[in-house]
Amino acid sequence: MSNSQVEKKLAAEKAVSFLKDGMVVGLGTGNTAEYAIKAIGELVKKNGLRIKGIPTSENSKKLAETLGIPLTDFSKDTSIDITIDGADEFDPYLRLIKGGGGALLREKIVASATKKNIVIVDASKKVNRLGKFLLPVEIIPFAKELIIKKLEELGLSPKIRMDKDRPFLTDENNLIIDLNIIQQRNLEYLEKRLKSIPGIVETGLFLSTTGMVIMGEGNEVKTFE
Ligand code: A5P
Repeated sequence: MSNSQVEKKLAAEKAVSFLKDGMVVGLGTGNTAEYAIKAIGELVKKNGLRIKGIPTSENSKKLAETLGIPLTDFSKDTSIDITIDGADEFDPYLRLIKGGGGALLREKIVASATKKNIVIVDASKKVNRLGKFLLPVEIIPFAKELIIKKLEELGLSPKIRMDKDRPFLTDENNLIIDLNIIQQRNLEYLEKRLKSIPGIVETGLFLSTTGMVIMGEGNEVKTFE
């Protein structure tokens, strides 16, 4: 296992130690979140942990079902106790870029309904300033050309995300556009500006939802709150 995989697994294992019987748990998406879902599966199977999961993507849903983790949804539970999810970058204010795996819309909805969001990462995700990673935004296909034009005017170098030779489609059958935000100083303003463009459904900027970041670094685990 590579260093970053060890770090992701360590962070995931630490995060699941916060789960308790009776909790509704948001299940994140991506490589790091998969370690957490697998660890939760073990706890459910071997230790009889009683939780209900709300997955943030079809992939995470399938994995949770395979592992026998009981699932719920917003028709039955509108409040989530803890969500464990990964991130593409986090800064000293625990602001995040997410959506590298294309699940940012459901991830943000789940994060917004969660009392404590725990973000699990390897050490490469820690940055002083967000933006080396391109910012994903989810858009309605109908508005693609209009949105690209606006984003070009804003100097954000929009690129439609591809899946081999065709556009990547999200779980909601939308498109992802990746943006270069490295020059952007005011992320709160950027978030508002992007969300004001008709057809942009959501952005991968998570500016105020994170309660705790757990980072694997070498063989250690560091916590930021
Ligand atoms: C999924 O859409 C993302 O938000 C992931 O949480 C993020 O890309 C981190 O992914 P890895 O855990 O695979 O690095």
